[in-house]
Amino acid sequence: MDARVADREVLRGLDLKAEIDRLRRDRRAIILAHYYQAPDIQDLADFVGDSLELSRKAAETDAEVIAFCGVRFMAETAKILAPDKTVVLPDMDAGCSLEDSCPPDAFADFRRAHPDHLSLTYINCSAAVKALSDVIVTSSSAETIINALAPTQKILFAPDKHLGAWLARRTGREMLLWDGTCIVHEAFSETELLKLKALNPEAPVAAHPECPAHILEHADFVGSTSAILRFALGSPSETIIVATEPHIIHQMEKAAPAKRFIGAPGADGRCSCNMCPYMALNTLEKLCLALRDLEPRVELDEELRQRALLPLNRMLAIASGAATDLTPAREH
Ligand code: 13P
Ligand code: SF4
Repeated sequence: MDARVADREVLRGLDLKAEIDRLRRDRRAIILAHYYQAPDIQDLADFVGDSLELSRKAAETDAEVIAFCGVRFMAETAKILAPDKTVVLPDMDAGCSLEDSCPPDAFADFRRAHPDHLSLTYINCSAAVKALSDVIVTSSSAETIINALAPTQKILFAPDKHLGAWLARRTGREMLLWDGTCIVHEAFSETELLKLKALNPEAPVAAHPECPAHILEHADFVGSTSAILRFALGSPSETIIVATEPHIIHQMEKAAPAKRFIGAPGADGRCSCNMCPYMALNTLEKLCLALRDLEPRVELDEELRQRALLPLNRMLAIASGAATDLTPAREH
């Protein structure tokens, strides 16, 4: 019998949530989940957060196992920051279109072509690309980090061209942009968004900076997933239009059941093209098996991990207000 079929047979009839709880205790595991995970996973996670918060949690946990319910670059980041922990990802195929857009070899060529530029690299990339970078940023830390750079410092930003362009507009800094995009945030339709706004004229639009400029220009608020959540809960408006992956609406509805949160529409106004297909690969069944087998496990070459750690630690230090040396770290 195929191993996956056999696993499904074993899990059939089990109370999965109780089994995950039992394994979490036995394994001394912490379950970390991103807001784009399905509600059943968010609900049993020990912590749900944005990329920066999840990195911080991974760095500070005293659990022995980190079960990362997110995508591969996030689980890799946890392993870079917490090398002594066992880090499992329920489905190792949970990638990211931004990571795919930025192969390490091509990125190394890009850096070599611009030796006087500091590389600010979005956390949505492979460990190998992190290892080639000067400073890692997340959507919630990027502005602070750019503002900490000397005004004369030349910058290149990879791999998300929409986030990079938004940061350039916000900070007034010119940046060379890598040509990558998030397939989820690219799927929002400006025409459908304008129709939705016309039907809900009082509703502010909260958007993630991975959205293209033609969506962001209709937004009342732009920020990371956690910042969007805070905005939605703090807004006096009863209805909010949310232009990011719609699973975050689960947290909004839990915290403010009387409010109405409407996901921004994709091309035909109804498609589910704005759901992240990579995040959707993780399921409760796969999480349960990952805790049982401690597989699929994230393993990194130690020399690569050390090189990727430096730009990540710079981000964590600057984001928490520490003065940090930002000169380019190495020859590329
Ligand atoms: P944040 O949660 O940091 O806003 O990132 C969003 C995202 O696209 C994760 O893949
Ligand atoms: Fe990558 Fe976009 Fe999915 Fe985030 S939402 S993991 S950026 S594809």
